[in-house]
Amino acid sequence: MKTDRSRQMLAEANQYLAGGVASSLRAAMKPTPLYAAGGKGARVYDVDGNEYIDYLLAYGPLILGHSHPLLNEKVYQAMQKGYTFGLQHEGEIALAKRLTEILPCADKVVFSGSGTEAVMMALRLARAYTGRQKVVRFHGHYHGWSDAIFTSFPSADMKSQAAGSAAGEAVPGTGGQSVNSLEDVILLPWNEPDVLERTLTERREEIAAVITEPIMCNSGCISPREGYLEAMRKLTEQYGIVLIFDEVITGFRLGLGGAHERFGITPDLMTMGKALAGGIALSAVAGKNEIMNLVAEGRVDHLGTLNGNTVSTAAAMAVLDELGRDNGAAYRQMERIAGQLAEGIRSLMKKYNVNGVVNQPGPVFHMMFTDQQEVAHFDQFGRRDAAKYGLFAELMLDEGILLRPNGLWYVSAVHGDKEAEETLKAVENVFAKRPEFTA
Ligand SMILES: Cc1ncc(COP(=O)(O)O)c(C=O)c1O
Repeated sequence: MKTDRSRQMLAEANQYLAGGVASSLRAAMKPTPLYAAGGKGARVYDVDGNEYIDYLLAYGPLILGHSHPLLNEKVYQAMQKGYTFGLQHEGEIALAKRLTEILPCADKVVFSGSGTEAVMMALRLARAYTGRQKVVRFHGHYHGWSDAIFTSFPSADMKSQAAGSAAGEAVPGTGGQSVNSLEDVILLPWNEPDVLERTLTERREEIAAVITEPIMCNSGCISPREGYLEAMRKLTEQYGIVLIFDEVITGFRLGLGGAHERFGITPDLMTMGKALAGGIALSAVAGKNEIMNLVAEGRVDHLGTLNGNTVSTAAAMAVLDELGRDNGAAYRQMERIAGQLAEGIRSLMKKYNVNGVVNQPGPVFHMMFTDQQEVAHFDQFGRRDAAKYGLFAELMLDEGILLRPNGLWYVSAVHGDKEAEETLKAVENVFAKRPEFTA
Protein backbone atom coordinates (compact mmCIF):
# COMPACT_ATOMS: atom_id res chain seq x y z
CA MET A 1 0.00 0.00 0.00
CA LYS A 2 1.33 3.40 -0.96
CA THR A 3 0.34 6.43 1.05
CA ASP A 4 2.76 9.00 -0.35
CA ARG A 5 0.07 11.37 -1.52
CA SER A 6 -1.76 11.20 1.83
CA ARG A 7 1.51 11.97 3.62
CA GLN A 8 2.18 14.94 1.35
CA MET A 9 -1.32 16.25 1.87
CA LEU A 10 -1.00 15.94 5.64
CA ALA A 11 2.23 17.93 5.52
CA GLU A 12 0.44 20.60 3.53
CA ALA A 13 -2.58 20.55 5.84
CA ASN A 14 -0.34 21.01 8.85
CA GLN A 15 0.63 24.43 7.54
CA TYR A 16 -2.93 25.70 7.64
CA LEU A 17 -5.09 23.33 9.64
CA ALA A 18 -4.20 23.08 13.33
CA GLY A 19 -3.27 19.48 14.03
CA GLY A 20 -3.55 18.61 10.34
CA VAL A 21 -6.90 16.84 10.75
CA ALA A 22 -10.41 18.16 11.38
CA SER A 23 -11.13 16.11 14.53
CA SER A 24 -8.41 14.99 16.96
CA LEU A 25 -9.23 11.26 16.79
CA ARG A 26 -8.40 11.14 13.11
CA ALA A 27 -4.72 11.86 13.74
CA ALA A 28 -4.29 8.37 15.21
CA MET A 29 -4.51 6.42 11.98
CA LYS A 30 -1.32 4.53 11.11
CA PRO A 31 0.80 4.57 9.02
CA THR A 32 -0.66 8.01 8.31
CA PRO A 33 -4.05 9.73 8.37
CA LEU A 34 -5.52 8.92 4.96
CA TYR A 35 -7.02 11.39 2.51
CA ALA A 36 -10.21 10.21 0.86
CA ALA A 37 -10.76 10.57 -2.86
CA GLY A 38 -14.30 9.19 -2.71
CA GLY A 39 -16.52 6.36 -1.60
CA LYS A 40 -19.15 4.13 -3.12
CA GLY A 41 -21.26 1.68 -1.18
CA ALA A 42 -19.15 -0.22 1.35
CA ARG A 43 -15.88 0.91 -0.23
CA VAL A 44 -13.73 3.98 0.08
CA TYR A 45 -10.81 5.15 -2.06
CA ASP A 46 -7.84 7.20 -1.00
CA VAL A 47 -5.82 9.76 -2.96
CA ASP A 48 -3.07 7.22 -3.63
CA GLY A 49 -5.54 5.03 -5.51
CA ASN A 50 -5.98 2.39 -2.77
CA GLU A 51 -9.38 0.80 -2.30
CA TYR A 52 -10.65 -0.29 1.11
CA ILE A 53 -13.70 -2.03 2.49
CA ASP A 54 -14.85 0.53 5.00
CA TYR A 55 -15.65 -0.37 8.62
CA LEU A 56 -14.77 3.09 9.93
CA LEU A 57 -17.87 4.44 8.18
CA ALA A 58 -16.95 7.97 9.19
CA TYR A 59 -17.08 6.90 12.88
CA GLY A 60 -20.59 5.54 12.51
CA PRO A 61 -22.91 7.76 10.45
CA LEU A 62 -22.67 5.97 7.09
CA ILE A 63 -25.33 3.40 7.84
CA LEU A 64 -26.27 3.32 4.14
CA GLY A 65 -22.64 3.31 3.03
CA HIS A 66 -21.07 5.94 0.79
CA SER A 67 -22.99 8.00 -1.71
CA HIS A 68 -26.26 6.10 -1.45
CA PRO A 69 -28.50 6.79 -4.49
CA LEU A 70 -31.68 7.51 -2.50
CA LEU A 71 -29.88 9.78 -0.07
CA ASN A 72 -28.19 11.60 -2.96
CA GLU A 73 -31.48 12.07 -4.75
CA LYS A 74 -33.38 13.39 -1.72
CA VAL A 75 -30.58 15.72 -0.68
CA TYR A 76 -30.21 17.01 -4.23
CA GLN A 77 -33.95 17.66 -4.49
CA ALA A 78 -33.97 19.48 -1.17
CA MET A 79 -31.03 21.65 -2.22
CA GLN A 80 -32.86 22.86 -5.32
CA LYS A 81 -35.31 24.69 -3.06
CA GLY A 82 -32.68 26.14 -0.74
CA TYR A 83 -30.39 24.74 1.96
CA THR A 84 -31.61 26.53 5.00
CA PHE A 85 -33.94 29.42 5.61
CA GLY A 86 -34.01 30.37 9.23
CA LEU A 87 -37.72 30.01 8.53
CA GLN A 88 -39.74 26.92 9.18
CA HIS A 89 -40.30 24.32 6.49
CA GLU A 90 -42.32 21.22 5.82
CA GLY A 91 -39.37 18.84 6.11
CA GLU A 92 -38.78 19.50 9.79
CA ILE A 93 -42.40 18.74 10.67
CA ALA A 94 -42.30 15.55 8.61
CA LEU A 95 -39.10 14.35 10.28
CA ALA A 96 -40.18 15.29 13.80
CA LYS A 97 -43.47 13.46 13.27
CA ARG A 98 -41.69 10.41 11.87
CA LEU A 99 -39.31 10.27 14.83
CA THR A 100 -42.18 10.39 17.30
CA GLU A 101 -43.75 7.47 15.44
CA ILE A 102 -40.56 5.42 15.36
CA LEU A 103 -39.03 6.03 18.78
CA PRO A 104 -40.89 4.64 21.80
CA CYS A 105 -39.54 7.39 24.09
CA ALA A 106 -40.45 10.30 21.80
CA ASP A 107 -43.48 12.50 22.35
CA LYS A 108 -41.57 15.42 20.91
CA VAL A 109 -38.10 16.13 19.50
CA VAL A 110 -35.69 19.03 19.01
CA PHE A 111 -33.01 19.17 16.33
CA SER A 112 -29.34 20.15 16.56
CA GLY A 113 -26.17 19.58 14.57
CA SER A 114 -23.95 17.14 16.45
CA GLY A 115 -24.19 14.50 19.14
CA THR A 116 -22.31 16.83 21.48
CA GLU A 117 -25.02 19.46 21.13
CA ALA A 118 -27.80 16.94 21.63
CA VAL A 119 -26.19 15.85 24.91
CA MET A 120 -25.82 19.50 26.01
CA MET A 121 -29.51 20.01 25.37
CA ALA A 122 -30.59 16.85 27.16
CA LEU A 123 -28.61 17.82 30.26
CA ARG A 124 -30.09 21.28 30.19
CA LEU A 125 -33.62 19.89 29.97
CA ALA A 126 -32.93 17.52 32.86
CA ARG A 127 -31.62 20.28 35.11
CA ALA A 128 -34.48 22.61 34.32
CA TYR A 129 -37.03 19.86 34.83
CA THR A 130 -35.73 18.67 38.19
CA GLY A 131 -34.27 21.90 39.54
CA ARG A 132 -31.19 19.83 40.51
CA GLN A 133 -27.60 20.13 39.30
CA LYS A 134 -25.68 16.87 39.44
CA VAL A 135 -25.34 14.42 36.59
CA VAL A 136 -24.34 10.78 36.98
CA ARG A 137 -22.23 9.42 34.14
CA PHE A 138 -20.10 6.30 33.81
CA HIS A 139 -16.51 5.25 33.19
CA GLY A 140 -15.82 4.36 29.57
CA HIS A 141 -18.82 6.14 28.09
CA TYR A 142 -18.43 9.07 25.76
CA HIS A 143 -20.98 11.84 25.49
CA GLY A 144 -19.24 14.36 23.25
CA TRP A 145 -16.62 16.94 23.91
CA SER A 146 -18.45 19.79 25.65
CA ASP A 147 -16.79 21.01 28.86
CA ALA A 148 -19.71 19.95 31.00
CA ILE A 149 -19.35 16.22 30.34
CA PHE A 150 -15.97 15.51 28.70
CA THR A 151 -13.90 13.62 31.20
CA SER A 152 -10.84 11.47 30.71
CA PHE A 153 -11.89 9.35 27.78
CA PRO A 154 -9.97 6.14 27.48
CA SER A 155 -9.97 5.71 23.74
CA ALA A 156 -6.92 4.11 22.21
CA ASP A 157 -7.08 6.63 19.41
CA MET A 158 -7.20 9.76 21.55
CA LYS A 159 -3.89 11.58 21.81
CA SER A 160 -4.51 13.94 24.70
CA GLN A 161 -5.65 11.96 27.68
CA ALA A 162 -5.85 13.17 31.20
CA ALA A 163 -4.66 10.74 33.84
CA GLY A 164 -7.20 8.04 34.61
CA SER A 165 -10.21 8.69 36.76
CA ALA A 166 -10.76 5.19 38.00
CA ALA A 167 -10.87 6.39 41.60
CA GLY A 168 -14.17 8.03 40.83
CA GLU A 169 -13.16 11.61 40.28
CA ALA A 170 -14.12 13.13 36.96
CA VAL A 171 -11.07 14.96 35.66
CA PRO A 172 -11.01 17.24 32.62
CA GLY A 173 -10.44 15.27 29.45
CA THR A 174 -8.34 17.90 27.70
CA GLY A 175 -6.18 20.92 28.22
CA GLY A 176 -8.16 24.13 28.12
CA GLN A 177 -11.24 22.67 29.73
CA SER A 178 -12.63 24.70 32.60
CA VAL A 179 -11.39 23.08 35.80
CA ASN A 180 -14.82 23.67 37.34
CA SER A 181 -16.73 22.18 34.46
CA LEU A 182 -17.05 18.73 35.96
CA GLU A 183 -18.01 19.76 39.48
CA ASP A 184 -21.54 18.60 38.82
CA VAL A 185 -20.50 15.26 37.38
CA ILE A 186 -20.66 12.11 39.50
CA LEU A 187 -18.57 9.44 37.79
CA LEU A 188 -19.51 5.83 38.50
CA PRO A 189 -18.48 2.40 37.26
CA TRP A 190 -21.04 1.00 34.83
CA ASN A 191 -22.83 -2.31 35.10
CA GLU A 192 -22.68 -2.25 38.90
CA PRO A 193 -26.24 -2.05 40.19
CA ASP A 194 -25.26 -1.79 43.86
CA VAL A 195 -23.05 1.26 43.32
CA LEU A 196 -25.80 2.90 41.32
CA GLU A 197 -28.45 2.19 43.90
CA ARG A 198 -26.31 3.43 46.77
CA THR A 199 -25.35 6.66 44.98
CA LEU A 200 -28.84 7.49 43.75
CA THR A 201 -30.36 6.74 47.12
CA GLU A 202 -27.85 8.82 49.06
CA ARG A 203 -27.73 11.76 46.68
CA ARG A 204 -31.19 11.75 45.15
CA GLU A 205 -31.93 15.33 46.20
CA GLU A 206 -29.00 16.62 44.11
CA ILE A 207 -29.16 14.46 41.01
CA ALA A 208 -30.87 15.81 37.90
CA ALA A 209 -29.95 13.07 35.47
CA VAL A 210 -28.32 9.74 34.85
CA ILE A 211 -26.82 9.60 31.36
CA THR A 212 -25.71 6.30 29.85
CA GLU A 213 -24.98 4.64 26.57
CA PRO A 214 -27.44 1.72 26.66
CA ILE A 215 -24.61 -0.45 25.35
CA MET A 216 -21.10 0.76 26.18
CA CYS A 217 -20.13 1.10 22.51
CA ASN A 218 -17.30 3.52 23.17
CA SER A 219 -15.42 1.06 25.38
CA GLY A 220 -15.67 -2.48 24.14
CA CYS A 221 -19.32 -2.70 23.00
CA ILE A 222 -20.13 -4.06 26.43
CA SER A 223 -23.76 -4.98 26.94
CA PRO A 224 -25.65 -4.14 30.11
CA ARG A 225 -25.83 -6.97 32.63
CA GLU A 226 -29.19 -8.59 32.88
CA GLY A 227 -31.48 -6.34 34.89
CA TYR A 228 -29.05 -3.40 35.06
CA LEU A 229 -30.89 -0.98 32.80
CA GLU A 230 -34.18 -2.08 34.33
CA ALA A 231 -32.81 -1.25 37.79
CA MET A 232 -31.55 2.09 36.48
CA ARG A 233 -34.99 2.85 35.07
CA LYS A 234 -36.73 1.88 38.29
CA LEU A 235 -34.45 3.88 40.59
CA THR A 236 -34.48 7.02 38.46
CA GLU A 237 -38.24 6.89 38.26
CA GLN A 238 -38.55 6.39 41.99
CA TYR A 239 -36.30 9.39 42.75
CA GLY A 240 -37.58 11.72 40.03
CA ILE A 241 -34.23 11.65 38.23
CA VAL A 242 -34.24 12.09 34.44
CA LEU A 243 -32.89 9.03 32.67
CA ILE A 244 -31.05 9.92 29.46
CA PHE A 245 -30.07 7.23 26.99
CA ASP A 246 -27.28 8.53 24.79
CA GLU A 247 -28.10 6.71 21.58
CA VAL A 248 -25.77 8.67 19.32
CA ILE A 249 -24.23 5.33 18.30
CA THR A 250 -27.03 2.84 19.01
CA GLY A 251 -29.83 5.01 17.57
CA PHE A 252 -31.05 3.62 14.20
CA ARG A 253 -28.25 1.10 14.38
CA LEU A 254 -29.65 -1.49 16.75
CA GLY A 255 -33.02 -1.12 15.08
CA LEU A 256 -35.22 1.75 13.97
CA GLY A 257 -36.27 2.32 17.58
CA GLY A 258 -32.66 2.18 18.80
CA ALA A 259 -31.42 0.30 21.84
CA HIS A 260 -34.28 1.40 24.07
CA GLU A 261 -36.80 -0.30 21.84
CA ARG A 262 -34.64 -3.40 21.68
CA PHE A 263 -34.33 -3.57 25.47
CA GLY A 264 -37.92 -2.53 26.05
CA ILE A 265 -36.88 0.28 28.39
CA THR A 266 -38.17 3.78 27.88
CA PRO A 267 -35.81 6.54 28.99
CA ASP A 268 -37.13 10.04 29.73
CA LEU A 269 -34.83 11.52 27.10
CA MET A 270 -32.80 10.11 24.26
CA THR A 271 -30.02 11.71 22.24
CA MET A 272 -29.31 10.70 18.67
CA GLY A 273 -26.96 11.75 15.86
CA LYS A 274 -24.51 9.86 13.63
CA ALA A 275 -26.66 7.40 11.61
CA LEU A 276 -29.76 9.61 11.77
CA ALA A 277 -28.96 11.51 8.58
CA GLY A 278 -26.55 8.96 7.09
CA GLY A 279 -23.51 11.26 7.13
CA ILE A 280 -25.06 14.73 6.94
CA ALA A 281 -24.82 16.76 10.15
CA LEU A 282 -27.97 16.30 12.21
CA SER A 283 -28.70 15.32 15.78
CA ALA A 284 -31.76 15.38 17.98
CA VAL A 285 -33.13 14.94 21.46
CA ALA A 286 -36.39 13.10 21.93
CA GLY A 287 -38.42 12.66 25.07
CA LYS A 288 -41.63 12.83 26.89
CA ASN A 289 -43.96 15.82 26.76
CA GLU A 290 -43.53 16.81 30.38
CA ILE A 291 -39.84 17.51 29.79
CA MET A 292 -39.81 18.54 26.15
CA ASN A 293 -42.56 21.09 26.80
CA LEU A 294 -40.08 23.15 28.84
CA VAL A 295 -38.96 24.45 25.45
CA ALA A 296 -42.48 25.51 24.44
CA GLU A 297 -42.94 27.13 27.86
CA GLY A 298 -39.81 29.20 27.32
CA ARG A 299 -38.10 27.71 30.38
CA VAL A 300 -35.31 26.11 28.37
CA ASP A 301 -33.66 27.78 25.41
CA HIS A 302 -32.79 25.70 22.41
CA LEU A 303 -30.74 27.40 19.72
CA GLY A 304 -28.70 26.76 16.60
CA THR A 305 -28.49 28.58 13.25
CA LEU A 306 -28.55 25.47 11.11
CA ASN A 307 -30.88 23.33 13.24
CA GLY A 308 -33.35 21.27 11.20
CA ASN A 309 -32.23 22.60 7.83
CA THR A 310 -33.77 21.28 4.64
CA VAL A 311 -30.73 19.25 3.58
CA SER A 312 -30.24 17.37 6.84
CA THR A 313 -33.94 16.69 7.40
CA ALA A 314 -34.33 15.41 3.82
CA ALA A 315 -31.30 13.17 4.37
CA ALA A 316 -32.78 11.77 7.59
CA MET A 317 -36.11 11.04 5.91
CA ALA A 318 -34.27 9.14 3.17
CA VAL A 319 -32.29 7.16 5.76
CA LEU A 320 -35.42 6.27 7.72
CA ASP A 321 -37.26 5.31 4.52
CA GLU A 322 -34.43 3.04 3.48
CA LEU A 323 -33.95 1.48 6.91
CA GLY A 324 -37.69 0.88 7.28
CA ARG A 325 -38.13 -0.61 3.82
CA ASP A 326 -39.25 -4.26 3.38
CA ASN A 327 -40.02 -4.71 7.01
CA GLY A 328 -36.48 -4.00 8.20
CA ALA A 329 -34.52 -5.82 5.47
CA ALA A 330 -31.58 -3.45 6.04
CA TYR A 331 -31.34 -4.54 9.68
CA ARG A 332 -31.51 -8.21 8.80
CA GLN A 333 -28.69 -7.67 6.33
CA MET A 334 -26.52 -5.69 8.76
CA GLU A 335 -27.08 -8.16 11.59
CA ARG A 336 -26.26 -11.08 9.33
CA ILE A 337 -23.03 -9.60 7.99
CA ALA A 338 -21.90 -8.34 11.39
CA GLY A 339 -22.63 -11.78 12.88
CA GLN A 340 -20.72 -13.46 10.07
CA LEU A 341 -17.73 -11.18 10.64
CA ALA A 342 -17.71 -11.58 14.42
CA GLU A 343 -18.08 -15.35 14.25
CA GLY A 344 -15.49 -15.55 11.46
CA ILE A 345 -12.97 -13.51 13.45
CA ARG A 346 -13.55 -15.64 16.55
CA SER A 347 -12.91 -18.86 14.64
CA LEU A 348 -9.79 -17.42 13.01
CA MET A 349 -8.58 -16.46 16.47
CA LYS A 350 -9.04 -20.08 17.52
CA LYS A 351 -7.41 -21.46 14.39
CA TYR A 352 -4.31 -19.28 14.74
CA ASN A 353 -4.18 -19.44 18.52
CA VAL A 354 -4.79 -15.72 18.91
CA ASN A 355 -6.13 -14.53 22.26
CA GLY A 356 -8.94 -12.10 21.77
CA VAL A 357 -12.55 -11.18 22.27
CA VAL A 358 -15.21 -9.88 19.88
CA ASN A 359 -18.20 -8.23 21.55
CA GLN A 360 -20.92 -8.02 18.96
CA PRO A 361 -24.28 -6.68 20.11
CA GLY A 362 -25.36 -5.81 16.55
CA PRO A 363 -24.02 -4.06 13.45
CA VAL A 364 -21.41 -2.36 15.59
CA PHE A 365 -18.84 -4.51 17.36
CA HIS A 366 -15.56 -4.34 19.19
CA MET A 367 -12.61 -6.60 18.46
CA MET A 368 -9.74 -6.70 20.92
CA PHE A 369 -6.66 -8.68 21.82
CA THR A 370 -6.65 -9.89 25.39
CA ASP A 371 -5.88 -12.98 27.48
CA GLN A 372 -9.20 -12.67 29.28
CA GLN A 373 -12.07 -14.97 28.38
CA GLU A 374 -14.57 -12.14 28.28
CA VAL A 375 -14.71 -8.36 28.40
CA ALA A 376 -17.89 -7.55 30.25
CA HIS A 377 -16.70 -4.67 32.41
CA PHE A 378 -14.75 -1.48 31.81
CA ASP A 379 -11.86 -2.72 33.99
CA GLN A 380 -11.50 -5.74 31.74
CA PHE A 381 -11.62 -3.49 28.70
CA GLY A 382 -8.73 -1.52 30.21
CA ARG A 383 -6.61 -4.68 30.24
CA ARG A 384 -6.84 -5.34 26.48
CA ASP A 385 -3.70 -4.92 24.36
CA ALA A 386 -4.56 -1.66 22.62
CA ALA A 387 -1.17 -1.33 20.94
CA LYS A 388 -1.49 -4.77 19.38
CA TYR A 389 -4.85 -3.83 17.95
CA GLY A 390 -3.33 -0.61 16.55
CA LEU A 391 -0.79 -2.75 14.71
CA PHE A 392 -3.55 -5.08 13.49
CA ALA A 393 -5.54 -2.13 12.09
CA GLU A 394 -2.43 -0.90 10.29
CA LEU A 395 -1.76 -4.33 8.76
CA MET A 396 -5.41 -4.63 7.74
CA LEU A 397 -5.10 -1.38 5.79
CA ASP A 398 -2.42 -3.08 3.75
CA GLU A 399 -4.95 -5.83 3.06
CA GLY A 400 -7.49 -3.30 1.85
CA ILE A 401 -9.61 -3.06 4.99
CA LEU A 402 -10.21 0.28 6.72
CA LEU A 403 -10.64 -0.05 10.49
CA ARG A 404 -10.78 2.40 13.34
CA PRO A 405 -7.52 1.94 15.28
CA ASN A 406 -9.33 1.48 18.61
CA GLY A 407 -11.15 -1.76 17.69
CA LEU A 408 -14.69 -0.56 16.94
CA TRP A 409 -16.20 -1.82 13.69
CA TYR A 410 -19.32 -0.42 12.02
CA VAL A 411 -21.25 -2.40 9.41
CA SER A 412 -23.59 -0.68 6.92
CA ALA A 413 -26.68 -1.87 5.10
CA VAL A 414 -24.63 -2.20 1.91
CA HIS A 415 -21.90 -4.48 3.27
CA GLY A 416 -22.55 -7.88 1.71
CA ASP A 417 -21.23 -11.43 1.66
CA LYS A 418 -18.46 -10.48 -0.73
CA GLU A 419 -17.15 -7.82 1.64
CA ALA A 420 -17.40 -10.17 4.63
CA GLU A 421 -15.53 -12.90 2.76
CA GLU A 422 -12.75 -10.54 1.61
CA THR A 423 -12.47 -9.14 5.12
CA LEU A 424 -12.12 -12.53 6.79
CA LYS A 425 -9.52 -13.49 4.20
CA ALA A 426 -7.60 -10.36 5.16
CA VAL A 427 -7.84 -11.18 8.88
CA GLU A 428 -6.53 -14.66 8.11
CA ASN A 429 -3.63 -13.24 6.10
CA VAL A 430 -2.60 -11.03 9.00
CA PHE A 431 -2.88 -13.80 11.61
CA ALA A 432 -1.06 -16.28 9.36
CA LYS A 433 1.79 -13.95 8.44
CA ARG A 434 2.45 -12.19 11.72
CA PRO A 435 3.72 -14.16 14.71
CA GLU A 436 3.04 -11.34 17.17
CA PHE A 437 -0.67 -12.20 17.21
CA THR A 438 -0.17 -15.82 18.16
CA ALA A 439 -0.28 -16.67 21.86
C1 LIG B 1 -22.42 7.95 22.57
C2 LIG B 1 -21.95 9.24 21.96
N1 LIG B 1 -22.48 10.40 22.37
C3 LIG B 1 -22.13 11.57 21.84
C4 LIG B 1 -21.17 11.65 20.86
C5 LIG B 1 -20.78 12.96 20.28
O1 LIG B 1 -21.25 13.08 18.98
P1 LIG B 1 -20.56 14.11 17.95
O2 LIG B 1 -19.21 13.57 17.65
O3 LIG B 1 -21.50 14.10 16.78
O4 LIG B 1 -20.52 15.43 18.63
C6 LIG B 1 -20.59 10.47 20.39
C7 LIG B 1 -19.55 10.50 19.35
O5 LIG B 1 -18.86 9.56 19.07
C8 LIG B 1 -20.97 9.24 20.96
O6 LIG B 1 -20.41 8.08 20.59
